[in-house]
Order: sequence, then structure tokens, then C-alpha cells
Amino acid sequence: MKKKIIWPLLLIFFLLGGLAVILFGGVILPPQARPETVQAISEKWSTAGHSDRDSVSFTYWDDRDPPEIPTNCSKCHSEYGYLDYLGEDGSEPYVVDAAVPIGSVVSCLVCHNPTAHEKDMALFPSGVEIEGLGMTANCLECHQGRRSNQDVANAIMNLPEDEVNDDLDFINVHYRVGGATRFGDDATIAYQYPGKNYDGLFPHVPSFTTCTDCHDPHSAKVTPSECASCHPVVTGFDTLRDVREPSTPDYDGDGNTTEGVHYEIITIHEVLLQAIQAYALEFIGQPIAYSNQSPQWVIDTNSNGIADPDEVNRGNTYPDWTPRLVKATYNYHLVLESAGAFVHNPRYAVQFLYDTLEDLSQVVNVDMSNMIRPE
Ligand code: HEC
Ligand code: HEC
Ligand code: HEC
Ligand code: HEC
Ligand code: HEC
Repeated sequence: MKKKIIWPLLLIFFLLGGLAVILFGGVILPPQARPETVQAISEKWSTAGHSDRDSVSFTYWDDRDPPEIPTNCSKCHSEYGYLDYLGEDGSEPYVVDAAVPIGSVVSCLVCHNPTAHEKDMALFPSGVEIEGLGMTANCLECHQGRRSNQDVANAIMNLPEDEVNDDLDFINVHYRVGGATRFGDDATIAYQYPGKNYDGLFPHVPSFTTCTDCHDPHSAKVTPSECASCHPVVTGFDTLRDVREPSTPDYDGDGNTTEGVHYEIITIHEVLLQAIQAYALEFIGQPIAYSNQSPQWVIDTNSNGIADPDEVNRGNTYPDWTPRLVKATYNYHLVLESAGAFVHNPRYAVQFLYDTLEDLSQVVNVDMSNMIRPE
């Protein structure tokens, strides 16, 4: 008798429950559980640098004869090159076998193909392999730079620190290398001074630790409102750099303990440029200036401290390199190409900047008395 009543009741219960989910599902379930439409995704992607066909990243090889992208560049600057690198075209993985045609961008297919979906490991220029990355291994294959600690160490070997050597030259880590910087000592992208300790990955917090926890994979942007729940100082893109943990030391020693950790890094970085310029003038006898275009380091012909437009040309490339200068200029440029270092790995950035300054302070006058190195 009882069974006969319970079954219809249960049936009505489930029917009503199902109806409620259909009607109010959008309200009850968290919004991220609702998949985005392909159209919305495509619109987001079209706002990202990844889709910018006119960017120098994708047009640099257009005037070549024949117009193709060579094997050592195409992995990161072309859809075809990346698919070749993955081995998605049937070729050997982790190597680009042949030059590819110009004219592609970081398209949907770069990240959405069977190999990219299953990818879990990234291979860094240092030769290090990092596993357990899931699909973000793809981000790291491109945002890893092209050089590492090892390239700098191999170039300078045991050469006398302050002797100009014709075999030496500026070593350019490449551009937008934020992924490798995030992994610090695990990927050893900075020149790391022997005998010093360096932080590996900056874990941040478990819910915001992988690339795509913070960056939308399609717009490539972060969503500042997501940061604000823990960092109330963030009200939009322009205040991302104001984040600072109360426990963060006054790394740059300027007495300001409320500025964002980004500005701690920036001050030390500025002092580093002054130290590099003092070293070039006093030890090498040739003034140097930095330009954000190639060639990055030029002769500062009018000694005004900056690379003026007429100083930035191949013929005026800085010619006199010592091991100490190679190391310092490598790390200086690395910070500029790691604009996200303040969040990707602030402690690592301060560590290698501090050590670079300390190295220069052995030969030129640098005031580091109040600076703090995170240990
Ligand atoms: C095949 C190489 C490649 C892959 C894979 C890749 N990127 Fe990029 N990324 C680039 C290039 C090249 C640029 C510069 C684009 C330009 O110059 O317009 C770029 C630009 C960016 C920028 C700068 C902002 C912008 O919109 O230009 C961010 C942030 C970024 N990528 C994050 C990511 C993340 C996160 C992933 C993984 C989900 C990723 N990238 C995967 C090559 C890649
Ligand atoms: C490991 C991936 C990778 C490889 C390999 C690579 N690049 Fe890049 N390259 C990038 C990324 C990422 C950027 C950042 C683009 C940006 O946002 O400006 C970039 C930027 C550039 C730029 C624009 C620089 C600027 O000032 O904005 C040029 C030019 C360039 N690369 C040339 C090359 C050449 C030439 C090669 C081969 C010799 C090469 N790249 C190999 C990842 C790579
Ligand atoms: C730089 C890499 C990258 C590029 C380029 C890219 N995606 Fe994605 N896409 C991702 C990642 C990462 C995810 C998230 C996968 C996950 O969460 O498991 C994703 C998820 C998706 C999803 C599932 C979304 C959801 O809400 O479940 C769709 C659909 C999609 N992408 C379509 C596209 C289309 C269409 C394009 C080109 C317009 C594109 N993607 C370009 C990396 C990329
Ligand atoms: C769930 C809380 C939470 C969210 C969300 C969050 N953070 Fe954090 N953040 C933290 C904590 C906790 C630390 C300190 C971690 C440590 O030092 O080990 C931190 C550290 C930082 C630091 C370094 C501060 C310093 O003084 O060294 C920066 C920068 C930062 N977060 C930026 C961001 C950005 C940008 C976002 C959004 C994309 C974000 N955070 C989202 C909790 C959060
Ligand atoms: C905790 C949040 C967070 C994580 C995790 C994170 N990023 Fe970022 N990233 C940022 C913020 C914030 C910026 C600065 C954005 C701005 O200026 O609008 C940034 C900037 C960048 C840039 C441009 C500047 C640079 O330093 O190269 C690239 C490229 C980039 N991120 C790639 C990555 C990749 C690849 C990963 C994964 C290895 C990653 N990010 C992980 C928050 C994050």
C-alpha cells in the first residue's frame, strides 16, 4: 500500500525538480558552468594580439624571398609552424622540420587539435622539461623566450670579467617571455649568478595559478574584477600594478611600503640601467644607451643617457662587450620583456635584478644599502 503512494510522489518530485532546473538553471548554477558560444569566443579572440594579422609578429617575413618563415622562428609566429612543432602534421614532435608559408596567426587550430589538447609538457630553451601543465603547455611553448641562463654562461665561460672580447655580443632573450619568468629557477630564463638561490614557480593561490586561471585563453586578457575579491586595490587594468601584499619588504629601499610590488621592481630596474651606463663609461670608455627597438644597445653618441632616434641603427650598435656587461644587459632586457613579472614571479625578478646590481657594484658606485633581496 505505502509503495503505491511513494512512487507517484517521487515521480512528481523529479518532474518538478527538472522543471526548476530548466527555468532557473541560469540563476542557480554558477555562470562559468554555461559554455560560451563559439561566436562569443571568436569575438574575444579577434581582440587578442594572437589574431592581429598586421602585427610585426606575423608580417616580419613577408618581404623575404621566398616569402616563408624559417624553422627557428615559425613555431611561435605561425599556425603551420606550431602544428609542425607539435607533430600534428605527422612529422617528428618538438622540432620544426621545414620552413612554412607566411600569412597565418595564432589561430584556433594552434590550440585546438588533438595533440595540443593532450599536451601536458613544455620544453624550455634551457633544455628543462616541465610537466603537469595541461593545455597551458601550449602557452609556455611560445611565451618562453629563446635564450636562458645557459646561453649566457656558455658565451662568457671563464673570460676575464672586465676585458672587452670580440667574440661577445648582446644576448637577446627575445620578447614577451612572461611564461618562462613565471617558472623562475625551474626554467632558468634569467642569468642566475653562481652561488645564489632563486625561487622557482610563484604558486600565488591555488585558484589563480595556471595561465588560463588568470588569462582568458581567447582574449588573452586578465579580468581585473576577479583579482579585486582578494586585492581590493584593483579597480581596473590601470590598477593591476598597485597590488602589494602587506608582508612584502621594501625591496628597492626607497621607504615607500605601500606602492605596488611592480614599482619595487621598476626602481631597481632603473638603478640597474644607471649602473650599466656608469660601467660602460668608466670601464669600457664608450657610453651606452638602451632602445626598445632593435638594436637594443647602442652607442650613446651625445652622452645624454637615452637612445635618440638617430642613434638607433645597425651601424651604431654597441660594439664593446665584456662578460659583466653581457650578463647585466641580458637581465635588464629580460625584465622589460616580462612586463607581467610583478604578478608572474615578483620575488624571482627582484632576486636576479639585485644580483646583477651587486655584480656591477663590485666595480662601479651603486647605492644598494637599503635594498632587500628576498631569500
Ligand atoms: C603559437 C604561439 C603562441 C601560443 C601557443 C600562445 N601565444 Fe600568446 N602570443 C603569441 C604571439 C606571437 C603574441 C604577439 C602577438 C602580436 O604581436 O600581436 C602573443 C601575445 C600574447 C599576449 C599579449 C597580449 C596580446 O593580446 O597581444 C598574452 C597575454 C598572451 N599571448 C598569452 C597567451 C596565453 C595565456 C596562451 C595560452 C592560452 C598563449 N598566449 C598561447 C604567441 C603564442
Ligand atoms: C619561443 C617562441 C618564439 C620563437 C622561436 C621566435 N619568436 Fe619572435 N616572438 C615571440 C613572441 C611571443 C613575441 C612577442 C610579440 C609581441 O608581443 O610583440 C615575438 C616577437 C618577435 C618580433 C617583434 C619584436 C617587437 O619588437 O615587437 C620579431 C621581429 C620576432 N619575434 C622575430 C623572430 C625571429 C626572426 C625568430 C627566429 C629567428 C623568432 N622571432 C623566433 C616568440 C618567438
Ligand atoms: C592560445 C590558445 C587558444 C586559441 C588560439 C583558441 N583557443 Fe579555444 N580554448 C583554449 C583553452 C585553453 C580552452 C579551455 C579548455 C579547457 O578549459 O579545458 C579553450 C576552450 C574553447 C572552447 C570550449 C569553451 C567552453 O566554454 O567550454 C571552444 C568552443 C573554443 N575554445 C573555441 C575556440 C575558437 C573558435 C577559437 C578561434 C576563434 C579558439 N578557441 C582559439 C585555447 C585556445
Ligand atoms: C583568492 C585570492 C586571490 C585572488 C583571486 C588573486 N590573488 Fe593575487 N595574491 C593572493 C595572495 C594570498 C598573495 C600572496 C601570495 C604569496 O606571497 O605567496 C597574492 C599575491 C599577489 C601578487 C604579489 C604581491 C606582492 O607583494 O608580492 C600580485 C602582484 C597579485 N597577487 C596579483 C593578482 C592579480 C593580478 C590577480 C587577478 C588576475 C590576483 N592576484 C588574484 C591572493 C589572490
Ligand atoms: C596570477 C595571474 C596570472 C597568471 C597565473 C599568469 N599571468 Fe600572465 N599576466 C598577468 C597580468 C596581470 C599581466 C599584465 C597584464 C596587463 O598589463 O594588462 C600578465 C602579462 C602577461 C604577458 C605579457 C607580458 C609578459 O610578462 O610577457 C604574457 C605573455 C603572459 N602574461 C603570459 C602568461 C603565461 C604564458 C602564463 C602561464 C605560464 C601566465 N601569463 C600566467 C597575470 C597572470
